[in-house]
Amino acid sequence: MPTVTAMRVLVSGGAGYIGSHTVVQLVAAGHDVVVVDNFANSNPTVVNRLEALTGQHLPLHAFDLRDVDKTEHLFAHDRIDAVVHFAGFKAVGESVELPLEYYENNLGATFSLVRAMQRHNVDKLVFSSSATVYGAEAPVPMTEALPTSATNPYGWTKVMIEQVLRDVAAARPSWRIALLRYFNPVGAHPSGTIGEDPADIPNNLMPYIAQVAVGRRDKLRVFGNDYDTPDGTGVRDYIHVEDLAAGHVAALAKLTTTDASVSTWNLGTGHGTSVMDLLHAFERAVGHELPYEVVGRRAGDIAASYADPSLAQKELGWKAVRTIDDMCVDTWRWQRQNPDGYPSA
Ligand code: NAD
Ligand code: WQD
Repeated sequence: MPTVTAMRVLVSGGAGYIGSHTVVQLVAAGHDVVVVDNFANSNPTVVNRLEALTGQHLPLHAFDLRDVDKTEHLFAHDRIDAVVHFAGFKAVGESVELPLEYYENNLGATFSLVRAMQRHNVDKLVFSSSATVYGAEAPVPMTEALPTSATNPYGWTKVMIEQVLRDVAAARPSWRIALLRYFNPVGAHPSGTIGEDPADIPNNLMPYIAQVAVGRRDKLRVFGNDYDTPDGTGVRDYIHVEDLAAGHVAALAKLTTTDASVSTWNLGTGHGTSVMDLLHAFERAVGHELPYEVVGRRAGDIAASYADPSLAQKELGWKAVRTIDDMCVDTWRWQRQNPDGYPSA
């Protein structure tokens, strides 16, 4: 791992699932971290737990990044060197029901943030993109060279923000931007004190299984077992959130040395895991079988999605190292220690 240039890093959405885990690793790497979050999908308790985990005071700005005045005030009164931009809405199904809210929030927050960065000559940005930008027909393993498209408003916000950032970089040659395309983040910090805490019924597989295991849900519904995959259930590239966080630290370090104005990297393991494989791995973590029922396919789901992560390994010296069993053991520790998630603020 190259020597890290210590920076003062603004983490937008730093109280969220991936942001919180990345804050811990940014501090461990020697950076000063400042958090901005409006708690639209998180909880102030997270920041308290982050301060306990890092042993550092973490300046917190609790506002909506779409508030241009408050965003400007932050950059005018703090010396920010780089930004890691997680803030945004991320639920695919909700985006279909509330497209304007998704476009307005995800793009609006980005516009406000990038404008303030431009005004204050902050020119290093790491952006949370998603494998969802590969669309529904992409061949696997997916490489960064594939064309981008989307099948839902959430995915389009990622496609659009990537393009906005490429155009900003073209207009501002000093800028260095990393577009990180996450596959399926799962898992939790090994302390069990921070983890994924969906607000309502979990859309995603891992938190749903964890809630079945802890008794909050009666059974897992497996969305189809008639896909063209080894066991007929959906195959995905699950990546431990700790590996994902490490990828952000590596990408940020790269921005201090690269000549490329925009770099795009897949953050995945390169391995596909089926729904049943993940369920059985979770059963190994829990020590007993978990109830499930095979039901019909979920609209919009694809059979298989997994990364070609070789570019990140080559250019960042980064590779996901944690196994599916690690992901389940760490998720189960978080869920067992926090059966109802974070306490309400
Ligand atoms: P999350 O909802 O846990 O975290 C997002 C955080 O941003 C939340 O704390 C929320 O309160 C905050 N936020 C949202 N809009 C804001 C605004 N306008 N101003 C200030 N704060 C705001 O989500 P996550 O799973 O940690 O994902 C983080 C990022 O990674 C998102 O951009 C998401 O699209 C992307 N991503 C997530 C996944 C995944 O499966 N979790 C996969 C690929 C990409
Ligand atoms: C995984 C597999 C389901 C729940 C989503 C977003 C994507 C990204 C990551 C933001 C699929 C099956 C699920 C359940 C099930 N988020 N499943 N029963 O759909 O690959 O990706 O999260 O960027 O944009 O689309 O993840 O966890 O929802 O589903 O059988 O209760 O588990 O069919 O095969 P997905 P997921």
